[in-house]
Amino acid sequence: MGGTPESSPASWPRRQYGEQMAQTTSGMNPGYDDTAYFQHKIAAMGRDRLVELVPEVLAADAGPDFVYADYGCGPGAAAVDCAAAVFAQVQARDPLRSRLATLQDQLGNDWQTVTSRIRDYGRAAADSQSSIAWSMCVGSFYDQVLPAGSVHVASSIMAVHFLSAQPAVTVPHSASPVDAAGGDAQRLKRSAADDWLNFWRRRSIELAEGGAMVVRPIGSDDGKARSTAVQVNRALGLAADELARGEVLAQDVVDSYVIGAYPRTVEELRSPFDDGLLPDLELVEASMHFDADPIRMRFEVDGDAQRYARDLTLFVRGWSDTSVRTNLVKPGLEARGRSATPADVESATNEIYGLMEQWWRDDPDSHPFQAWTPIVVVRRR
Ligand SMILES: C[S@@+](CC[C@H](N)C(=O)[O-])C[C@H]1O[C@@H](n2cnc3c(N)ncnc32)[C@H](O)[C@@H]1O
Repeated sequence: MGGTPESSPASWPRRQYGEQMAQTTSGMNPGYDDTAYFQHKIAAMGRDRLVELVPEVLAADAGPDFVYADYGCGPGAAAVDCAAAVFAQVQARDPLRSRLATLQDQLGNDWQTVTSRIRDYGRAAADSQSSIAWSMCVGSFYDQVLPAGSVHVASSIMAVHFLSAQPAVTVPHSASPVDAAGGDAQRLKRSAADDWLNFWRRRSIELAEGGAMVVRPIGSDDGKARSTAVQVNRALGLAADELARGEVLAQDVVDSYVIGAYPRTVEELRSPFDDGLLPDLELVEASMHFDADPIRMRFEVDGDAQRYARDLTLFVRGWSDTSVRTNLVKPGLEARGRSATPADVESATNEIYGLMEQWWRDDPDSHPFQAWTPIVVVRRR
């Protein structure tokens, strides 16, 4: 399906160093799964909520099949886990239904890991009656990507905070969108609101009547300091500053870089539903939860600062690496008039994360990863 004008915020001015509206991310780093303990914790609560919704959805639609979809599936661990739990419930209640699962993400996603996961799941389930027809769907969840009225239950874990386009803002000494000020902050807020509305408009088309969806993106308790990853993103901005000081990256590119992932408050999450902009959808729940960082919790037990710094860096790199390479390092090298081959980009990217690791090793209390994670449950009327 093609995009519509709503898919890319017109409010962002073109960045000086690129003609195209840049993507916020093209997928996760290959190491993402190795340190995704936090994401797995978040996914488990979403999965349990999804399973609770299955009986009502089955009752609302007596059709021959049952379709589960996950949007922004990444390497697929959470999606395959959710699908297995959802379909176990479907099978227990209505064993004759055909079970179909669609995993959705962008072109640059690690689809190879997704396919091996599906194959492993199929092998493990081969002797049971739980066969599932799997499909993969490439595109942006800001577009309609699945047929109208086709999805019974859906999930999206740690994905819908990625904005539809890389923001063009000026935020010196920080890579956190939360630190944008004045007009930049206003435009960022407006674009995030447009994206959130647009995401749900598309889902209101794709969800079957009586269908339901659970979404767990990053969030914010106060729109400022109590926002997911704000301190980590500040450390990223400071590390990029060091490279600008060393004349590796251009300072103006560093100053205008933020991670294109917006942590929404409960008020922002509720807004389009409360304002009647999504008349076909009922907001069942929007609540915020503080989740302790499992890497920090382990450090508090073993006191191993080296391990803490290494794992926190790998974890942060898992979700930020493609954004840093594409929207900070490559344009930053080019704007300095430096060579920006893949090897040059790799080397400068390693320097940034190397600094962050060093800071966390030297002072494990600096720039901790803290997370406020909403759970949003929506039903299609
Ligand atoms: C942090 S990963 C989460 C992956 C997985 N859901 C999990 O919980 O481990 C975010 C995923 O969202 C995807 N994503 C970001 N923007 C997207 C868009 N507009 N359309 C589809 N997927 C998108 C990224 O490609 C990435 O795979």
